[in-house]
Amino acid sequence: MCGIVGYVGDKQALEVVVSGLRRLEYRGYDSAGVAVIADGRLDVRKKAGKLVNLETLLGADPLAESTTGIGHTRWATHGGPTDTNAHPHVSEDGTVAVIHNGIIENFAELREQLTADGVHLASDTDTEVVAHLLARTLPQAAGNLTEAMRLVCRELQGAFTLVAIMTEDPDLVVGARRNSPLVVGVGEGENFLASDVAAFVEHTRNALELGQDQIVTLTKDAVSIIDFDGHRVEPSPYSVDWDASAAEKGGYDLFMLKEIAEQPKAVADALRGRIGRDGRLQLDEMRLDDAALRSITKVIVVACGTASHAGMVAKYAVEHWTRIPVEVELASEFRYRDPIVGPSTLVIAISQSGETMDTLMALRHAAEQGAPTLAICNTVGSTIPREADAVLYTYAGPEIAVASTKAFLTQIIAAYLVGLYLAQVRGTMFADEIGRIMAELNDMPQKVDLVLDTVEPVRAIARELAGCSSVLFIGRHVGYPVALEGALKLKELAYMHAEGFAAGELKHGPIALIEEGVPVVVIVPSPRGRALLHDKLLSAIQEVRARGARIIAVAEEGDERITPFTDHVIRVPIVPTLMQPLVSTVPLQVFACEMATAKGHDVDQPRNLAKSVTVE
Ligand code: AGP
Repeated sequence: MCGIVGYVGDKQALEVVVSGLRRLEYRGYDSAGVAVIADGRLDVRKKAGKLVNLETLLGADPLAESTTGIGHTRWATHGGPTDTNAHPHVSEDGTVAVIHNGIIENFAELREQLTADGVHLASDTDTEVVAHLLARTLPQAAGNLTEAMRLVCRELQGAFTLVAIMTEDPDLVVGARRNSPLVVGVGEGENFLASDVAAFVEHTRNALELGQDQIVTLTKDAVSIIDFDGHRVEPSPYSVDWDASAAEKGGYDLFMLKEIAEQPKAVADALRGRIGRDGRLQLDEMRLDDAALRSITKVIVVACGTASHAGMVAKYAVEHWTRIPVEVELASEFRYRDPIVGPSTLVIAISQSGETMDTLMALRHAAEQGAPTLAICNTVGSTIPREADAVLYTYAGPEIAVASTKAFLTQIIAAYLVGLYLAQVRGTMFADEIGRIMAELNDMPQKVDLVLDTVEPVRAIARELAGCSSVLFIGRHVGYPVALEGALKLKELAYMHAEGFAAGELKHGPIALIEEGVPVVVIVPSPRGRALLHDKLLSAIQEVRARGARIIAVAEEGDERITPFTDHVIRVPIVPTLMQPLVSTVPLQVFACEMATAKGHDVDQPRNLAKSVTVE
């Protein structure tokens, strides 16, 4: 998704803005640009491709010195990734520059109006429309950019975060948001705007949340906020809970490798402080009262991608502990299927970024139907937890790599905590049972650490299979969502066909895919728990092996029954059945990361992908 940075203060704006854009690179983009105000005029440079292209341009054709500037990394929606379509966009009279994240859904009619008025639009973008509208609205706004922004925003439909500067007032940056994220960084004699705190956290950790339909005006010494009706809004300050180094690679070649290695600590942090002195679970951010939780008759999880797989894992545990039916819905499908949702439905939105538009829209739909909502999120102050009735933060720390790893494990942990909390409030589990499960969960950081110590052979297997055209993943019970997650990791990183199946489904069609040499990754359940499940997986292994498949099994230590039927066995520690995803997923993350590395791909920023998909 697009990266946005705005700055006004005493430093050289270009340096602040470009380093801020670099910290937002992980969001995924395909062009970049900056604009500053110097000597009463706008100075703009923009370039297709990665930031390095823009920096090369700036080296050859430097910007004027300035202490006010905006910058943007664009993930193309309307119009291809070209120099002309890159942001910032400038009004025809050269007085206003604007950058934008989101989609302006009525931009076509706005374009037509402008064209009819004789305005020449240089780009194919929806954003350029705003630059012209702002400049044309300034006269009726008495030259006030904030007022002009307010009047223009009222004409726009869709999701947008806009940041603009104008030559008439060089010490001013104005931003507006509807649906797409925008945060304010409050410094000493300087202020920042960004789509993510990572852009300014090296300068200040004091942030302000911007709400829906709000406009923020920054000078170097002041920040003021109004809503789209012009009413003053008191900001909600918060402190960023991590520092710039947390968003660095810390000696790893890849953010993804760092974040895979951080998983034991992330799991421990997600669990920390959740048990009170009385031994009972305490979820401080759970702002839903016990009576409301007792009246719940159904849980619906809405999420996308990896987050939806975490929801699928959680379903098994939450249903087992609470005896409440749990539906897991792809957020992008949820509100279009006229779901059965009401005051007795708890809707849980799982989202690492807290800005995924599909999930946000599903959450809003649920709230409109009167359902209590809970967010499981990793980004403090982001939109989804702000709009939910309650939140459980995963505290995994910033996840920079596009491919989600530690967020997935901590989302499972958080969903388990919600399930145990529901069981505690509703009395479907005894305190000692909850205590036992919490003790087992508290062992997980060390178990995940053990996996990390033994994943080296996975890298060799990945390199051996790098030339394959596809890889299949099969699992049963909680191993089924793990199979889906393993396949997703391979798709998004190795750009290869990969598919996850419920092992029992193979004989209903997918087994036709099996031919000589096809790699099949099998997530094997413990032979100790549900022995029947283990037997079934063993049958599935033999069915595909008989047709030439290469078997890579992820199986627990000591399970020798499967060894004769496999080409490779990746061992994971023995853990309770419901916690197996926490250990069996890790080798699959390493597998995909290594395969992508072997293929020479950009692992942290895979092609076509964004870290947070803030458009529907
Ligand atoms: C996972 O590796 C992907 N990056 C993607 O599926 C992601 O999980 C999905 O877009 C949801 O993102 P969120 O958790 O920030 O809402």
